[in-house]
Amino acid sequence: MFSTDELCSLRWDPVRKGVEVIDQTLLPHALRWCPLDTLAAFCHAISAMQVRGAPLIGITAAFGLASALADDASDENLVRASSALMATRPTAVNLRWALEQMTCAVRSLEPSQRALVALDKALSLREEDIVNCERIGANGLELLTALGKDRLNIMTHCNAGWLATVQWGTALAPIYKAQACGIAVHVWVSETRPRNQGTNLTAWELHRAGVPYTIVTDNSCGQLMRKGKVDCVIVGSDRTAANGDVCNKVGTYLKALAARASDIPFYVALPTSTIDWSCPNGEQIPIEERDESEVLSITGLDAAGDYSEIKLAASHSKALNPAFDVTPADLVTALTTEHGNFDATEKGLERLCTIASQA
Ligand code: MRU
Repeated sequence: MFSTDELCSLRWDPVRKGVEVIDQTLLPHALRWCPLDTLAAFCHAISAMQVRGAPLIGITAAFGLASALADDASDENLVRASSALMATRPTAVNLRWALEQMTCAVRSLEPSQRALVALDKALSLREEDIVNCERIGANGLELLTALGKDRLNIMTHCNAGWLATVQWGTALAPIYKAQACGIAVHVWVSETRPRNQGTNLTAWELHRAGVPYTIVTDNSCGQLMRKGKVDCVIVGSDRTAANGDVCNKVGTYLKALAARASDIPFYVALPTSTIDWSCPNGEQIPIEERDESEVLSITGLDAAGDYSEIKLAASHSKALNPAFDVTPADLVTALTTEHGNFDATEKGLERLCTIASQA
């Protein structure tokens, strides 16, 4: 199902010897591949959210560093390029993880050897991301089948599908696996104000995969759960602390509270690279604050079919726009990862850490 380049978000063009990404700011209205050839282009792609989602941000940054080293592989440029990429977005820890992986691979080499090794490393991180996401899908499927239903209504928030990774996705991977093995799945897609990743990205992805879905407003999700219309909630994560607190797109916490109140399982799907082992709890996670214009305006196609920004609020209005929130570990039923399913507790994560270090 996900073996072709058509269902991936970032590809390597061996002829041009360069990276191309889907420009996600144009979805769902246009599918445009965008070549990234300079450090500035990679930094812009991440900060302007042409690419987004924790795992994909990390992989894009890895190729950005490889591209910078192909121009200048000196120690100074390694530090400069890595800092520039690191400054693009603050919350998704996969960015730091990928830059550390890249730096470790090249730091001790002669500058003349660095460019090739960096490109190899970025390509292998890309492959690893695909394998890990497929495993998350298989492990998450175990949680879904344990619910014992042949029809499942699953709620998700934001976009944690293959657009947020390279292929498969995190939260959507178990859904794709469930559909492939004959479970009748229907997905409640919460629109995810203010940038509408649910409406713009998740709905688009699910449609392409032939998975039935319904877009709902963020505010209707609690009511749907209370009315028995939701069998479980699955979301991704941008950074998970060592005690199991989960940072994800703003609005995730409210869904977890509603799920607990209605006794519905709340699963978080993530690769191990999203765990910040140095972060003891969610309070320490930096929360990105984005421009108030994302709340005060909305962007979409106008009647003429052109992209335009429409003002929603009065011109004197002010807004606060935190992009992420933290869901306390005790609201999380299980963490599903490439190494299996774990309790969202310090003990559960210690067990994951042991298994991951032996893999
Ligand atoms: O701001 P974004 O679109 O980069 O945020 C991504 C998310 O928060 C997603 O919900 C996702 O679950 C985490 S990455 C798989």
